[in-house]
Amino acid sequence: MQIADVQDEIDHELVSKAQIEGKIKEVAAQVSKDYAGKDLLLVAVLKGAVNTLAAFSQALSINVQMDFMSLSSYGEGFESSGKITVRQDLSCDVKGRNILIVEDIIDSGYTLDWLVRELKGRGAASVEVFALLEKPSRREVEVPLKYKGYEVPDEFVVGFGLDYKEHFRNLDSIAVLKPSVYEGAAA
Ligand code: PRP
Repeated sequence: MQIADVQDEIDHELVSKAQIEGKIKEVAAQVSKDYAGKDLLLVAVLKGAVNTLAAFSQALSINVQMDFMSLSSYGEGFESSGKITVRQDLSCDVKGRNILIVEDIIDSGYTLDWLVRELKGRGAASVEVFALLEKPSRREVEVPLKYKGYEVPDEFVVGFGLDYKEHFRNLDSIAVLKPSVYEGAAA
């Protein structure tokens, strides 16, 4: 889906499809170099990271494995609660593995902070993070981001995995939602 298909609900484009592809290619080249000859497990946090994981994994030139976790960091509203709930766990043992967590966005940092500590606690040999987007102004917990994409302002951002009420995840670029779409809406 493209912005033109949902233009009544989109205010403006923030990161184009070409920019996303370019950044993912750049990070994938670096990761392929950094992990050459090593075992690497990509861990994606459902559901938002799925688009990034798909594009990123295909851009790698090394043979990796992938696993998924479903976490919830949001409570009743749009704000991160800091309380992480595991909805679905990994299907493999991470003991002794090199892990790269792939995320669509780091906002408050609570999700990644919890996940990095959790995977290290399970005995992973190394845990690094790639987040396609970050909202630096919203950060409450510092998380070391070894690989990063674009910084975005504190606006309601959708597309390329990011949703509003489960919609817009299949938008091929990243865009700002019109406030009229969510103003007055129940969380
Ligand atoms: C989003 C995003 C990250 C998390 C980041 O997931 O995918 O996992 O929030 O926020 P934080 O840095 O404030 O913790 P969300 O809980 O909205 O679920 P989703 O991926 O299914 O959309």
